[in-house]
Amino acid sequence: MEDKSKVQERESWGSSFGFIMAAAGSAVGLGNLWKFPYLAGKNGGAVFVVTYLLMVILIGFTMMLGEMIIGRKTQLDPYGAYKKLNKNWGFLGSIGIVTAFLILSYYSVVGGWVIKYIIATLMGGIGVDKAAYFNGFIGAPIEPLIYHGIFMILTVAIVFKGISGGIEKASKIMMPALFIMLIIVAIRSVTLKGASQGLAYYLKPDFSKFNGRVLVDALGQVFFSLSLGMGALITYGSYLKGDEDLEKNALIIPGLDTAVALLAGFAVLPAVFAFGFEPSQGPGLMFVTLPAVFEAMPFGAVFGVIFFILVFFAAITSAISLLEVSTAYCIDQLKWSRNKSVTIVSSIMFVIGIFASLSMGVLSDFNIPILNLGIFDALDFITSNVLMPIGGLLMAIFLGYVWGVDEAIKEVKKSPNVKFKLEKLWIVLIKYVAPVAIFIVLLSSLGFLDR
Ligand code: PFF
Repeated sequence: MEDKSKVQERESWGSSFGFIMAAAGSAVGLGNLWKFPYLAGKNGGAVFVVTYLLMVILIGFTMMLGEMIIGRKTQLDPYGAYKKLNKNWGFLGSIGIVTAFLILSYYSVVGGWVIKYIIATLMGGIGVDKAAYFNGFIGAPIEPLIYHGIFMILTVAIVFKGISGGIEKASKIMMPALFIMLIIVAIRSVTLKGASQGLAYYLKPDFSKFNGRVLVDALGQVFFSLSLGMGALITYGSYLKGDEDLEKNALIIPGLDTAVALLAGFAVLPAVFAFGFEPSQGPGLMFVTLPAVFEAMPFGAVFGVIFFILVFFAAITSAISLLEVSTAYCIDQLKWSRNKSVTIVSSIMFVIGIFASLSMGVLSDFNIPILNLGIFDALDFITSNVLMPIGGLLMAIFLGYVWGVDEAIKEVKKSPNVKFKLEKLWIVLIKYVAPVAIFIVLLSSLGFLDR
């Protein structure tokens, strides 16, 4: 075994702004642009939005701060981090690493679809029947794999360059660009004739539509969207130095993530209504409905290309954080070089992704036993609905009761210049509110196994 003290040469972020952009880059992703609008569309619009906001404030802030505390305190990958704080708890870090690993394998497949759609929109080649085009493309045996490979290689290229020279640099360029592009598309959407019905659906809550499903979807989405429960923020936090104001970051990053999700709703839902499409049509909203919407609007091709480029930026800044979780583990625990870690980890992810992609076509008849889901859906289900909430629940218990809130608070107040304003509130949230809320959601999402 090598001496842990060698880890001192650890890389770190160049600036506080750089860290915030990278962490916001991790958070802002397909979850915001693809999942949030369709979940809102499916769950009654504004009532989902209000529930989601409440959950972000209560759970998102609490858990994000918790992860950053663990990361900065230990300066290690998730496994090493938990183990350093309590020798019996390394397993929790491992759960996170496995989760991030599995997510990237199918996330990269969807990232590939986005690259395909940038090109197809640019060439104006999506054809009349958007659904047939989409299903034909994702179900094909070879083409989606090529795009999956391209997406993975681009992710690898950034992570190769390390923390400040790769991840931070890419995020500092892509995140502001993404924000500007999204505002342009949102303005276009809300100024369309007929947008007002979509705006009402999105902004005026109809509380009679509230039910358990809304709650479960909202909390699951908070976890996924904020990259919680799998050590991504432990990893990013581990490259932070001692004088950083963690509390401030744990407010700003979910704030930015939520702003993007809300803007994405403004970009998508009014346009969907204006052109008479169904908002509740689910995952196809981005790849099927939107191309039709863009085609029907003046200068739609331009907005379409801008939209898919911004989705690509969002996806890749999330993908690099997913890759960095396993990479950090290989560097810190196995003492591999960065390049070796990235190459090996991403190659295995790529191979798993191949099966996920093929499960949309050639392998569509193959179902994972017990779950009764195809490979792609099973990966999504196991990670988002099982592993992420379990990771989150155990983390809340770990912080609240095992390692203890006192130690955690000390870490927040490590620098004499930093105050912890919401200290009392955070204690209540991490010890009581977060575990109870996550537990309920976990139970009900496991209940879906009986479908
Ligand atoms: N937060 C990302 C999204 O909203 O698309 C997904 C994600 C990235 C989840 C990184 C988890 C993670 F560690």
